[in-house]
Amino acid sequence: MDRIAITGGAQLHGTIPVSGAKNSAIKLMAASLLTDEPLRLTNMPRLADTRFLGKLLTRLGVNVAESDGPDGQQTILHAPEITSGFAPYDLVRQMRASFNVLGPLVARSGQAKVSLPGGCTIGARPVDLHLQALEALGAKIDLHEGYVYAQAPRGLKGAEITFPIVSVGATEHAMLAAVLADGVTVIHNAACEPELADLQDCLNAMGAKVEGAGTPTITITGVARLKGATHAVIPDRIEMGTYAVAAAMAGGEVRLTNARPGLIDALLDKLKEAGAGVEPTADGVIIRRNGHRLDSVDIETAPFPGFATDLQAQFMALMTTAKGESRIRETIFENRFMHAPELMRLGADISVSGGEARVRGVERLEGAEVMATDLRASVSLVIAGLVARGETTVSRIYHLDRGFERLEEKLGACGAQVRRIKGDGEPEL
Ligand code: EPZ
Repeated sequence: MDRIAITGGAQLHGTIPVSGAKNSAIKLMAASLLTDEPLRLTNMPRLADTRFLGKLLTRLGVNVAESDGPDGQQTILHAPEITSGFAPYDLVRQMRASFNVLGPLVARSGQAKVSLPGGCTIGARPVDLHLQALEALGAKIDLHEGYVYAQAPRGLKGAEITFPIVSVGATEHAMLAAVLADGVTVIHNAACEPELADLQDCLNAMGAKVEGAGTPTITITGVARLKGATHAVIPDRIEMGTYAVAAAMAGGEVRLTNARPGLIDALLDKLKEAGAGVEPTADGVIIRRNGHRLDSVDIETAPFPGFATDLQAQFMALMTTAKGESRIRETIFENRFMHAPELMRLGADISVSGGEARVRGVERLEGAEVMATDLRASVSLVIAGLVARGETTVSRIYHLDRGFERLEEKLGACGAQVRRIKGDGEPEL
């Protein structure tokens, strides 16, 4: 299997274009199941996760074509008819967001059989709220042998849905199902993440009537059919935040473009508090640090617009060499500190107790062999490797390839010494 090797010590100077958002793209791709006309998605990232979902959608009857269009990387998805309503365990297990095909399949063809996704390394991540939302919309749900059987032969019906906790995936799923329901659906305590507004914009371009995404109340007036559309995927705020942290870690000056600074204000505020230079621009942000050591700051993850859990590991890496002690509280996922022991292999001083990690900044990290445990954890190890003395090698980087497009190229263009070591085909234990 491939590994990434980083030789620490180089400052970063240059420009990094931010790609389209993975976590938006995969929900927008699922929206293609809702219409028999083509959906053209532009600003599409080319990632393992998008390829992976493309494979599942193809199996369900969607023609998926990736190309370079007039406005960059695009994917055209066309489902003239749903040829299968079956999403098998093998495909859903590998990427949880695959579960979000359930709602659109039931909405369009009245039935589906989709595997339950199972747990993952960052937490148990149940799908009870997804199922409650679909039941509220009138689907009959049965669980057998690890599969969800959902049926709504006479179509879904608009309903009031009140989520007891904020869930990005369940809110998106409810939206994807309700657009073709008969009548009005109101989602209360909806997630406000920017990906929700992106999904609303895409669905509305397809002829849906959705209002309020980005606020806690979303109203959807069902329509009988949706049509094809062209939609540009929102910039990836987590990728943007990751490179902002990388620049603050390595020092130098990096301009992030093709992005929207307003999407990561919570992170940018913390970077400023720590002493990094942060200058928003029209299409992104410039991050600077010239020589001086950063101060430790505390963070607590929260739903948008709070500090994103998907940036917690990267921020922890940044704090490993800051002055003083930083407290990092994770409130979204119960097991999202798997990167801490790996960072400690690089010399970081971290103790974890329950949902809180304490990071006592050290003068210097030392390169070592480390292992990626999930997508964001793996990039936190790359960030730490940027300043660690000597060489850091990160294994199991298939996690990284799920969500970061051309990472070595983007960091390398700014002077980072990052290279991919091709594997020998031996599986990693
Ligand atoms: C999305 O996951 C993202 N994934 C995650 O990014 C992100 O960390 C998360 O939102 C929070 O922002 C995608 O968009 C593909 P949730 P999701 O439902 O939708 C609990 C990454 O690295 N919950 O908002 O699965 C759940 O266990 C990934 O790109 C239930 O209890 O997150 C968690 O504690 C990792 N029942 C909390 O809600 C449910 O039915 C929030 O999860 C659903 C969720």
